[in-house]
Amino acid sequence: MKRFLLTLSFALAALLPAAADEGMWLPSLIAGRIDDMRAKGFRLTAEAIYSINQASMKDAVVLFDGGCTGEIVSAEGLLLTNHHCGYDAIQRHSSVEHDYLTHGFWARSRSEELPNEGLNVRILVRMEEVTERLAAGETAEAIIRAAEAEGPGLHASIEQMYYGNQQFLFLYEQFDDVRLVGAPPSSIGKFGGDTDNWIWPRHTGDFSVFRIYASPDNRPAAYSPENVPYRPKRHFAISTEGVREGDFTMIYGFPGNTQEYILSDAVRYIARRSDPTKIAIRDGRLAIIAEAQASDPALRICYAARHASIANAWKKWQGEVLGLERRKVCEEREAYEARFAAWAASQPAYRDLLPQMKAEYARILTPYFAREILRETVGTLPGRYTEAERGEAVFAKREACERALFRYALEQYDRHCPEGYRLPAFLDGVAEAGSVEAYADRLFEAAWSGTDTMRLHTLSKDAARMQRHIAWLLGTTALRNPVSKRLNTLYTTYIRALRKWDGERAFYPDANLTLRVAYGTVAGYEYADGEYHTPHTTIDGIIAKDNPAIYDYDIPQALRDLHASKDYGRWAAEIDGRRTVPVCFLATNHTTGGNSGSPILNGRGELVGINFDRTWRSTMSDIRFDPAICRNIAVDIRYVLLVIDRIGGAGYLLDEMTLTSSARRR
Ligand code: ARG
Ligand code: GLU
Repeated sequence: MKRFLLTLSFALAALLPAAADEGMWLPSLIAGRIDDMRAKGFRLTAEAIYSINQASMKDAVVLFDGGCTGEIVSAEGLLLTNHHCGYDAIQRHSSVEHDYLTHGFWARSRSEELPNEGLNVRILVRMEEVTERLAAGETAEAIIRAAEAEGPGLHASIEQMYYGNQQFLFLYEQFDDVRLVGAPPSSIGKFGGDTDNWIWPRHTGDFSVFRIYASPDNRPAAYSPENVPYRPKRHFAISTEGVREGDFTMIYGFPGNTQEYILSDAVRYIARRSDPTKIAIRDGRLAIIAEAQASDPALRICYAARHASIANAWKKWQGEVLGLERRKVCEEREAYEARFAAWAASQPAYRDLLPQMKAEYARILTPYFAREILRETVGTLPGRYTEAERGEAVFAKREACERALFRYALEQYDRHCPEGYRLPAFLDGVAEAGSVEAYADRLFEAAWSGTDTMRLHTLSKDAARMQRHIAWLLGTTALRNPVSKRLNTLYTTYIRALRKWDGERAFYPDANLTLRVAYGTVAGYEYADGEYHTPHTTIDGIIAKDNPAIYDYDIPQALRDLHASKDYGRWAAEIDGRRTVPVCFLATNHTTGGNSGSPILNGRGELVGINFDRTWRSTMSDIRFDPAICRNIAVDIRYVLLVIDRIGGAGYLLDEMTLTSSARRR
C-alpha cells in the first residue's frame, strides 16, 4: 500500500504546473502534461505523442549512434540528424581526393548511399514501469530477457528515474544498416565552427541525411546489399510555414544527462573545481592540435573530429560556470537546503539526511576528482598506434603533434592529480627517466614505434587499477556524475522528502538518455542589460559573417550567388519585414547533450526545425533551468530544405518527404 501511494504521488506530481517550460517529461506519462501543453498551443492528444496501440510520433524518433537523436521524414526510412552527429561517418568516407567534409556529399541514387559499419539507430517499441515487479522479486535480468525474446533485433534495458524511486523498462528495435545519404559542406554544416559553437546569433546548417535499411520483410538486419529502405510505422510531415516568436514548440529526443536535484556541494564542485581544471587542461590540448591543423591540410582533416569534440565540452563547461556563477546557483541551493533543513528538523525520517549527504560528498569528491583528472590526461593517450594508423599517408606528419600531446598530458597529470592517487607506474617511470618530459618521450616513442610496449602496458594497467580502486571507494562503476552508491541511496530518500516538503514543485526525472518530451515556445531573450536577442537568424547574417580568409566562415560560392540573385524561390520568407531565408531559431525547450538532432515540432506535430545546440550561459540548465536565459538552438527546416535543394542539387530527396502546404493557416 505504501508503495502504491508512492507511485501514485509521482504520477500526480506530473500534473502540477512546472516553472515556465522547464522539464523533460516521460512520453508514456505525457497525459499528465497535456493540458499545459494545449494551453501553450499544442493541438494534438497524448496518444499522438506516445501510444503502444497505434502508430505515434515516438515511432519516428530514433536514438542515433548511441548519443544523438534523429527523426524519420519519409515512408522510406529517410532520416535527419545533425551534421555533427553524422560527422564521424562523413569523416570516415572522406579523403583528400573525396573530401566530403569540405565539399559535402549527395548520393545521386539509392545505390550511392554509403554504408557505415558500427552505426546504428534505435526506435522505442515501448516503455513500461517495472518498479512493482522488481519490488515483488522479479530480477531485472529476467524482465529484460523476457522483453528481448518478443522478437528479433530487440534490445531492452531498465533505467532508474528519480534515483531509483521508479524503474522503467525500455524496449528498442535496433537497426544496424544505416547509410549516409547526404551532408552539406562543413562551411554550411559547421558554419562558424568552434567560434560560434554554443553561441547565438547562430547561422549553422547543422544537419545531415541518412537512411535506415532493413531486411526485405522490414526487420532489423546487419548490412547487406539485399536490404531495402525501412518502412517506418510513422514519419514526420514537414511544415514549410515556419514559426514565429511565441509559437508553441515541442522537442522529442534522447537527452543524455542532467543533475537538477544535486546539493550545493556538488554544484560547487562542478563550478569551482572540476570544470575550471578540465577547461585549463583542454586549453593546452587544443592549442597543440590547432597548431598541427594549421600546418597542413591533411592534418586539418585528420584531427577535425578530435578537435571538435575536445572543444565542444571545453566551451560548454565555460558557459556552464559563467551561468552558474552569475545566477548564484551555489548560494541559491544553499538557501534551499537551509529551508529544507529547518523543515526536516521536525521530521525524524529526514532529520539526518542532509548532514549524511554532505559527509558523503566530503568523502568522495577528491577521489572522484582524481578519476576526472586521470581521464582528461593519461586517459587521452593511445596505448599504441594501430596498424591502420601506421598505414595512413599522414601518419609521419603527425609525429610532432602526438609527441607534444604525450608530454602535455603527463605534465598536466603531474600538476593536477591529488596526492594519494598517483599511479605507481607514473612515479616509477618519472624517477627512472629523470623527468616527466623524459618519461613522456619514452612512452611516446614506444607507442609510435610499436616496440617496447610493456612501458605503456604497465601505465595503462595501473590506470585501470586506479579506476577500479576509485569505483570501489564510490561503490559504483556508474560514474558519470559525482555520486557514490551511498549518495545515490541518500538521494532516493532526499527526492522523496522534497516531494513531501516542496509539494508545489513539478518534478521530472533527470535526463538519462531515455526518450523525453520537452515543450515551450519560440522566444528571444535578454542577453545583457539593454540587449535583446531576437529568436531568428537569416541568410543575410551568413553573408555578413562570410569571410574567405577564415576557414570557419568561408561559405560555398553557391550560397553567395544565391544571396546575390535573391532567387530563393519557394524558400523565401518574410522575417521582420524583409524578404529573406530563415536559418536558425531559439526556443525555450529544456534540452541537453543527446538532444542533438532532435525534431522540433509545431503544435500540429509537424517538423519545423532540428535541434543542435544551446546558448552559452544556458548550458547551466543541466543543473538549474533558468527560464529567463535558457534557450535551445534549432536549424530552421526551411534552410535545411533549401540547402538540400539549391546547394546540394538533391531536390529529388524532397519528393519522398511530406511537405505541408502553407495555405492551411495564415
Ligand atoms: N554544441 C553542440 C553540441 O554539443 C554542437 C557541437 C558540434 N559543433 C562544434 N563546432 N564542435 O553537440
Ligand atoms: N550539441 C549537443 C549534443 O551533442 C546538444 C546541445 C546541448 O547540449 O544542448 O547533443
